[in-house]
Formats: sequence, structure tokens, C-alpha cells
Amino acid sequence: MKFGTKLIHNGHAVDPATGALGTPIYNTSTFRQRSVDHFGAYDYSRSGNPTREALEDAVALLENGSRGLAFSSGMAAISTTLLLFSPGDHLVVCEDVYGGTFRVLTTVFARLGVTCSFVDATDPAAIEAAIRPETRGLFLETPSNPLMKITDLRGSAALARARGILTIVDNTFMTPYLQRPLDLGCDIVLHSGTKFLNGHSDVICGFAVTKDEELGRRLKSLQNSFGAVLGPNDSWLVLRGLKTLKVRMEESQLSAGVIAAWLSEQPEVAEVFYPGLPGHPGHEVHAGQASGPGAVLSFKLATYEITRRLLEGSQLSAFAVSLGGVESIISYPARMSHAAVPREEREKKGITDTLVRLSVGLEDVHDLIADLERALKG
Ligand SMILES: Cc1ncc(COP(=O)(O)O)c(C=O)c1O
Repeated sequence: MKFGTKLIHNGHAVDPATGALGTPIYNTSTFRQRSVDHFGAYDYSRSGNPTREALEDAVALLENGSRGLAFSSGMAAISTTLLLFSPGDHLVVCEDVYGGTFRVLTTVFARLGVTCSFVDATDPAAIEAAIRPETRGLFLETPSNPLMKITDLRGSAALARARGILTIVDNTFMTPYLQRPLDLGCDIVLHSGTKFLNGHSDVICGFAVTKDEELGRRLKSLQNSFGAVLGPNDSWLVLRGLKTLKVRMEESQLSAGVIAAWLSEQPEVAEVFYPGLPGHPGHEVHAGQASGPGAVLSFKLATYEITRRLLEGSQLSAFAVSLGGVESIISYPARMSHAAVPREEREKKGITDTLVRLSVGLEDVHDLIADLERALKG
């Protein structure tokens, strides 16, 4: 089955009890058991709920994994996955990892004795140089947030695998429609499902997906132990949102390409970061591991005044945290996604006070450009 068909026919598209076109919302915390000797498939909704399971199976199918797990947020998926590691373990992490991931690693996990080195993961030699005897994990995002830096997933996963290191990829920006890290040799795929997978800016959720069944069992046990699961109502909303992932991504990506090209020609714009632009560093590597550049781009404005005018003046793109919704969202990494990163560190990474990120939604691209033009020119 092709991807678009899998979105609709995922093994849970028809309720076997009634023939309803969709999974019912099982709003229950517990399940009545018939026999002391044989419990049913479900006993308690933290351990398993049919609505959540339908969603978990659907996301696993899309990522070509054997097990998917749904969490109450992207950070819950990330933090639970990091519980695979123990005091004394070391991780190599891409330097412009999502700010929340940076925060949990450098505060909570550092305190628990899991250390990490942040590296420019676009350079395989930098990854290799950071690996120590106690390194157990390699944590990547590509394209990275917000500078759209590209890491070679195949090469990095091979490097890690040869040393017994787990490769973990946050695939939020690409979604499995455009990039499937498990097929490239990576071990765990993570998502903020809050973004494109749900797609409608109305749910906070996260996912972890694995191909290896033993690793899947370990993660499932951590999900149940830590307990940050997604509720049945939210699971149902994401199941519904997921059905249109392909058409949403296609349309938004098309518009993002047009907007990136237009921005590149504006005198108020100093630099555009979008993997679809031929001059983008890593353009070739990206094309070799993903089937499209996606619907998120970043750009630097000529001055702080123009930056502020754009953020506050855009009518169609909501000045907000987040991305991946049907509505365009313009955000300010320095004060939003990367506010947790100290200023000096941020500036060093290129996340300056003139950098903005645009997640392109489903509005007509002509209207979006007219709106950006109005806000840019003042
Ligand atoms: C790339 C990436 N990973 C993880 C997260 C965290 O996800 P959530 O906000 O659903 O906890 C985000 C949120 O913005 C993100 O952009």
C-alpha cells in the first residue's frame, strides 16, 4: 500500500463491532474482567486503551515501525525515551536541538547523571569525535529547528550502530510522509504530534516509534511506568487529523517553496533557510533521505525593527509558538522555542534576534505573500 492509502486504511479504519468508519472513543479508565485466570486484552487505560492503540498502530505503520507509542506531549515522548539511559551514560546531541529537549537534557537528565555533548551534526567527523566509551545514544533532528541544518541520517545511524549506540531522531518537521528514519537505519523516531501529525493546533501529543521489537517492549514498559499517556479523546482527534496528512503536507510544502523563493528576493530579508532552496547547505543530503523540503522555513531580517514589525504586523500568520497547523504560524525562536537556551549559546548557534520561523498553513499562497509583504514593508 502506498502512503496515502495507509493514512486511510490502517487496520483500524472500520469498527469491527458496528461497521462504523472509525475507531470509537473508549472513555474508560478500567476494563471489567471475566475470569481470575484470564484477563482480557485491556485492564487499565494507562497500560492500554483501544482508541490510543488504534492511533499508536497507525503511526507505527506510517513510520514502518513495529511499535508506536502515544504520549501526552512531544516532551513526554522525548523524556520517556531518555529514561532508556542510566547514570553514567553519555549522549551526543545535535547542537540546535529543540529548546525543550535541550532543557530536559541539561537540567533533569544531567542531574540524574546522564551527560551529553552538543555537536554540529551536519559534520560526521564532529559526531565521531564526540563519541566516548560511555556514549549510548545519538539524538538528531533534521532539518533542525530553526536553522534547517541537515544531518545525514544513513551515515550517522551506521556510525552509531557500529559502536552499539542508539540513534534517536525527532522527525517532527518532516513527518513520515516525507522522511522515514527507521528505513534509514535509525532506532527510534520521536514526534511532537502536536504539529503536523495532528495538524489542527488543537491537541498536545507525542509519539515514539521503533522497529526493533525488544526495544519497543522496553519503551512500552517505560510508557506504562512513567505514565504520560495520551487520553482517548485526544487520540481520536489525532486519528482524524492524521487522515489528511498527505494532502496537508503537499499543499503547505508547495506554498512554502513559493514563499521561500519570494522571501529570497526581498531587500528586507538577509537570509532564508529552507532545504528546498538549491543553495541551502545540505540540500543534496536532504534530497537523498527525504522526499520533500517540508512546510517550515526560517529567515533572518535585515534589522530588529523589521523583525518586530513583521511578527506583530502579520494578519494571516499567527504570531505564536508551534507549527504544523492548517493555519500559518510565525514564531520568534529567540523568545519562544529557544527561550530556554542561554542568549550567548543561542547567538553562537545563529539563533539571533532577527531570526523568525514560518510554518506555512493551508491559506492561499497569494494571500500569504500579500500579507507578508504588507507587514515587511510597513
Ligand atoms: C522539533 C520539536 N520536538 C519536540 C517538541 C515538543 O513537543 P510538545 O510541545 O508536543 O511537547 C517540539 C515543540 O515545539 C518541537 O518543535
